[in-house]
Amino acid sequence: MDWWSIVVCLGVLHVCSSHAHQLPNATLIEPGQEVVNASQRSGRFFPFYTIGRIANVPCTSPSGLSGTCLIAGECKDNGGLASGTCSTRTNQAVCCVYTKSCGGSTNLNSTYFTNSGYPGPYNGGGTCSFTITPSSGICQLRIDFRALTLEQPTGDGSCNTDRLTIVGASPSVVPICGENTGQHLYVNFVGSGPISLRIATNGDVSFNRLWNIELSQIACASAERAPAGCLQYYTEPSGEISSLNYGLGENPAMNTVGARGSRQLANTNYGICIRPAAARCSITYSLPPNDRYAFTLTSDAVAIDPALLGMPMLSTTGAGCLTDFVVIPNPTGLTSDRFCGLGFPGVTTSARPFVVYTVTNGNETPDGANRGFRLLYTQNACAAV
Ligand SMILES: *[C@@H]1O[C@H](CO)[C@@H](O)[C@H](O)[C@H]1NC(C)=O
Ligand SMILES: *[C@@H]1O[C@H](CO)[C@@H](O)[C@H](O)[C@H]1NC(C)=O
Ligand SMILES: *[C@@H]1O[C@H](CO)[C@@H](O)[C@H](O)[C@H]1NC(C)=O
Repeated sequence: MDWWSIVVCLGVLHVCSSHAHQLPNATLIEPGQEVVNASQRSGRFFPFYTIGRIANVPCTSPSGLSGTCLIAGECKDNGGLASGTCSTRTNQAVCCVYTKSCGGSTNLNSTYFTNSGYPGPYNGGGTCSFTITPSSGICQLRIDFRALTLEQPTGDGSCNTDRLTIVGASPSVVPICGENTGQHLYVNFVGSGPISLRIATNGDVSFNRLWNIELSQIACASAERAPAGCLQYYTEPSGEISSLNYGLGENPAMNTVGARGSRQLANTNYGICIRPAAARCSITYSLPPNDRYAFTLTSDAVAIDPALLGMPMLSTTGAGCLTDFVVIPNPTGLTSDRFCGLGFPGVTTSARPFVVYTVTNGNETPDGANRGFRLLYTQNACAAV
């Protein structure tokens, strides 16, 4: 639908057929100039230009949800919810928020995919899918788990009871389960092919599942686009990174060798990237205070005095890390870039890109009660010259 047909919809018919057009960039006309265009195109003149033009830019609703600035009628036609205004020029411009549940699909930006019954939980089985078709000029999908609570994996980290699978994306992503609220992923569209999120839950296991997943389309030319190899991409000068399903509390399941289970998801291999901030030349990773399990990747975490967990003396490096480990390229003053075990020495590196690779294998033999990692990062100012 071009801007002219929208003007007609608005001004004349008050009804529009719901063209599922893609990332509309403007829906209202500029007074003056474009009226000339309009009459040239249509050969007629409708005096509806007084509304003024708004760009279909991202906006934020009063409650903090991401939306797109649209005129109210178009928001409604697209199945969105008008959530506050987004233009000082007309109160017809609303921040349009899209929320969809099982079986839906969209080509619109900033859509929230929720469980049925959300914001209540879903305690049942079946498969709930949602599909995103990219608009032209779109390369990536940012997937934000505003909420993602599924059943924990097996004690070996396999998502057997519940699983989120991402279909059609490149690179492929392992099935995800457990607690991932606050985590995000960046995946690439493959050409103009769609990406589907498929959440399968086992109804035989009673559990309160919850999901509210924000889906943002990232333009190929956007500065927000994550570099290749980065499943996660952090853009703040300092912050926190953690492995998927990292969280407080142990996985109650046992692993296949009868030891207490792990929260680390099986068979992961991805990069967590951090955008270098201006005038910062290196990055330091450290353990957060008051979280003893913040680096428990291999070995038996319950066989160790809890007071020692996290300490550098429990860190394993290099060839001692073959199953579950992180890689921090070119660490300053250290001979190995590979870290595992039950402790973390604190690492600084000036190697770019700023990235932590995380690798897990398919089991937790002979580990016990591991949770993965949660690390603080700080980018350091460049040394004065
Ligand atoms: C709107 O988007 C279309 C398709 O992406 C593009 O061809 C057109 O130039 C854009 N118009 C404006 C005003 O940005
Ligand atoms: C029509 O509108 C476009 C975009 O606003 C403008 O660049 C162009 O000059 C206009 N054409 C005429 C004939 O006024
Ligand atoms: C989609 O929405 C997100 C978040 O609101 C925004 O950052 C992104 O630039 C938008 N994408 C496009 C193509 O407008």
